[in-house]
Formats: sequence, structure tokens, C-alpha cells
Amino acid sequence: MRVEPAAALVGHLVVPGDKSISHRAVLIGALGEGETRVGGFGRSGDTQATIDAVRTLGVDVDDVADDELLVHGVGLRGLRAGSVDCRNSGTLMRLVTGALAGQEGEFALTGDESLTLRPMERVAAPLRRMGAAVETTDGHAPVLVRGSDALRGIEIEPEVASAQVKSAILLAGLNADGPTTVIERIATRDHTELMLEAAGARVRRTAASVTVQPAGALRLPEVIVPGDFSSAAPLLVAAALVPGSDVTIHDLGVNPRRTGLLTVLERMGARVSLYDRRRAGGEPMASVQVQPGELVATEIGAEEVPGLVDELPLVALLASHARGETRVTGAAELRVKETDRIEAVTDNLRPLGARIRSQPDGWTVRGVPARLRGGRIEARGDHRIAMLGAVAGLASREGVVVEGADTAAISFPGFYELLDSVTRR
Ligand code: S3P
Repeated sequence: MRVEPAAALVGHLVVPGDKSISHRAVLIGALGEGETRVGGFGRSGDTQATIDAVRTLGVDVDDVADDELLVHGVGLRGLRAGSVDCRNSGTLMRLVTGALAGQEGEFALTGDESLTLRPMERVAAPLRRMGAAVETTDGHAPVLVRGSDALRGIEIEPEVASAQVKSAILLAGLNADGPTTVIERIATRDHTELMLEAAGARVRRTAASVTVQPAGALRLPEVIVPGDFSSAAPLLVAAALVPGSDVTIHDLGVNPRRTGLLTVLERMGARVSLYDRRRAGGEPMASVQVQPGELVATEIGAEEVPGLVDELPLVALLASHARGETRVTGAAELRVKETDRIEAVTDNLRPLGARIRSQPDGWTVRGVPARLRGGRIEARGDHRIAMLGAVAGLASREGVVVEGADTAAISFPGFYELLDSVTRR
């Protein structure tokens, strides 16, 4: 796919429903009693994998519309033994492992080549401590789960700041014999906690921990999914980079644990405004407007990383256009995403003209307030890298060819068309 330079991006948009919340709506709906109606569902390669997974586990899911589902819950211990293909989705694999820890039977979890390279001991080890039998293959998928009907509640501080790990433990905790506490010194996204609360689970939260009590039953009649902030991010960053732009995204999820990019955009000099704030269930939503400004370099450290973990490749691109030296540290997790995003970003942006160096846990970028030349980006099977390539093309002098552009559909089918609809050439 060839993405030509843009003269400006102008317009009002909505983006598909949040991927993290969509996965959780299907999984928690499956564990509930009765029906869960999911409105604003973000259908994508990843979330379709979750629908298919729960169907394999004996849950009926009606596709009411492209963005609407009816999940017929089977109860907290009602999943049926089976073999689940998680495809490209780390969130599915980690969360479903937690949900299966307290189910009777044997479950095999597999995934595509990229997922098979991603670390699974981070969820397996805590679940073993709770009493489930979880076998990984040298720390990776395939994973074999033999659930236990006598899980123990534990208190644990996971070794990495990861919402997926936290969520897996909390989901297992629903079927434990006592409270389960996850301590996190660096806050990660809290969609699981919010949805479990909405479903009637007893959840206690402090500044640095979350505790879930064993639940007799969950009831989650409805989930309204806000727009996916991470899908909006490429559009917002393109608007910040291309002079004369003015983009507003409506009905967007603005959970403060997800919107670190807005803080960074403002700090770097872009103009950001939020209005029409409201709530969809427990999740905050708003209209977000971004306009360009004179960009300056910034520093991002470990504390800030979970709030913009999936947006960091875009931050590297912003930094290439921002006067001064930007340093991103504390982001070693990027090395174990769908691909090694630290190297993927460096290897791809450098030939376009960016002055970027990989560090073990981030990048150093020397930015200049001018368009990059352009060239080629290889997505490496990673949806976020493909979308980065498209944004780089819009902000370039000569355009960018994105190799493997189709992979954007893992999180955002229709991305290129939507981008095109606000692009002026
Ligand atoms: C996600 C959490 C993050 C994020 C991923 C989705 C989630 O992963 O990168 O895209 O839905 O919980 P980690 O929790 O492993 O950092």
C-alpha cells in the first residue's frame, strides 16, 4: 500500500470500539449468568478470535450486527473443555488462561507464529501458585491448562507492569476460595476491574492494588464499548504532525490509564482539547480534538509507559519531527509485543531519514522540525507498525510504501479508508 504525503488532515470521525474492552466484554459475558448485550463492539481479527474461542468453549454468541453481540453466559464454572486458537492475540491468550484456571477439564491454547514467541510464564506462574496446572512450552504457547475447583486466593506483585497479567489473575480469583490481590506499583489499564464491578463482583481498589473476592455469579446485562483510543492514536498523531490539520474523534474512550499519548502530545507542543465528556458504563468517553503545534522533544520513563504502551511507536515518529533529543526508557516490554517493536521502529524509521537509536528499553531520537523523506516500511506482521507506516507516509515528503499493510485489520479493519476520508492532498 502506497501512502502519499498529506497537505492536511481535517474532519470529524468515530473509530471502532475499544479492543481491550471488547475482548473483556466477550470473556466476562461468557462467565456471566444470562445474556450480555455488547454495543459498539470493535470487530477485528483479534476480537473475532475471542468470539471464536468462547464458542469453542461452549458459549453461544449471536452476531446481532457487525458492532453488536449477544453473549449467552454459561456461568463462572461453565466453560467446556476444548482447544483454543488465540491466533495473534496476546490479550486473549493471557486472559483466557486466567478464566480457565478455575474450570474443570483440560484446555489447550495455541496461537500464530508471533504469539508463540511471546512470554506466557508471566501468567502461568501466578496461576500455578493459585493451584491450577498450567504448562507452557519453554515459557511460551502452546499452553496446557488443567483447571482446579480448589483455587487459592493469593496476594501477588507481578514481575512486569501488565494489564494482561493482572487481568488473568483477577479472572482466576473469581473462582478462588478467598480474596485475590494484585499489587501494581505502576498503574496499568483497569478495564477488567471496571467491568467486573459492573458485573457485580466485589472489587476493592487502592492506589497500588486491586482485590477481587470470590464471586458466586456475575451478571452483566450490557456493555457499551467506547471508541478505541489506540485506534484513534494514528489519526491524532497524523493530525499533530501535518501542518494545517484539525481532527476530532467523537465517542472516544478516554480512560486516564489509556490516554498517556494526549499528555505527551501536549507536552511536545500539539494542541489537544477534550469536550463532551461522559461515561459509558464505568468507562469515560469524550470528543478529542488535535491540531498541530511546534513540536519539542520530551522524556518518557517507566512510570508513564503503561498509559501509552501501544502508542510508543507513534511517539518515536513524533519525536523525529520534534526539536531536540527525545528519550524513551523503561519500555523493554515493547520487545515482546507482536514483534520486537523497539527494533521494528528503529529499522523502519531510520531509512526514512529519522535519527533514531534503539536502547535496551526504548529509543533516543534526535528530531528536526521537517518532514522525513519517505520510503518503505515493513510491518513485520504487526498491526501497530503497519499503521505507523501510514502515518509516516502522510507526514513525509515523498510518501511511504507499507509492506504488509493488511495486518492493520488485526485491530482496525477499515483503517486506511478512514484515514483517507480525512486526508487532503
Ligand atoms: C492489553 C494490555 C497491554 C497492551 C495490549 C492490550 C490489554 O499489554 O499492550 O495491546 O488489553 O490488557 P500488557 O498488559 O502485556 O502490557
